[in-house]
Amino acid sequence: MRRLLVLVLSALLASTGTAAADEQVVGGERASIEVNPWAVYLTDDRGALFCGGTIVAPAKVLTAAHCALGRSPADLRVVAGREDRHDREAGMSVTVSEIWIHKQYVSADEGEDVAVLTLKKALPYTPLPIAELSDRELYQPGTQLRALGWGRTSENGKTSRYLMQATVPVLPDDFCVDAYPQFVKTDMFCAGYEGGRIDTCQGDSGGPIVVAGKLVGVTSWGEGCARRGKPGVYVRLSRYAKDLHPIVDALPPVVTDP
Ligand code: ARG
Repeated sequence: MRRLLVLVLSALLASTGTAAADEQVVGGERASIEVNPWAVYLTDDRGALFCGGTIVAPAKVLTAAHCALGRSPADLRVVAGREDRHDREAGMSVTVSEIWIHKQYVSADEGEDVAVLTLKKALPYTPLPIAELSDRELYQPGTQLRALGWGRTSENGKTSRYLMQATVPVLPDDFCVDAYPQFVKTDMFCAGYEGGRIDTCQGDSGGPIVVAGKLVGVTSWGEGCARRGKPGVYVRLSRYAKDLHPIVDALPPVVTDP
């Protein structure tokens, strides 16, 4: 009996050991751009990735305020329809005409970490709807959410060549407050596991976390990546639906001839 227990325990240890060796998002797996056509990444004018984003209307991309702050539209590109960052033929890289940043934004861990980019041309990819104020049940602790991005696949690792995804449950607000004293319940939620291992990471910021065909959050901040007791923190998007609708639903300006 005891020998069996030892066998089972060592098998368990061996399997967690291999899981740690091929961590990806951190602890995730590859995701397809066909299934997630609204997933985009942001680059500077030289093509270097710095954040993620989500297509929420044909010419609008939602991202984090901390991704957009201090940038001018001229040094920003939105890359859409491209699962493999090395595949220059896939999808398109489009320029930005306008950057909107939430007026109350100061820093990611104080909340309001949302921004909307208006694109110079509409994208041919299906947008993802934003969660509404009435979508409270999507934020119940235990709800399994899917986060996506091309960010680092380990805390000090490189960003990912391929689009990755990880499934993480919403954690109770009390857990988030214990992990981070500055956590603001009304503006944020946190998701992950008490033991860490699976998480978003640097480069995923601004990107989507989804459930039930809706964008429920924006990857915002966390201490390190996938650390025990330090879950990922996401913007509680339903809270910002009212602020975002006028920007996201605005029609592109009509150019009239003199
Ligand atoms: N702030 C990071 C970024 O700019 C995202 C951090 C997410 N961290 C985490 N542990 N989930 O990409």
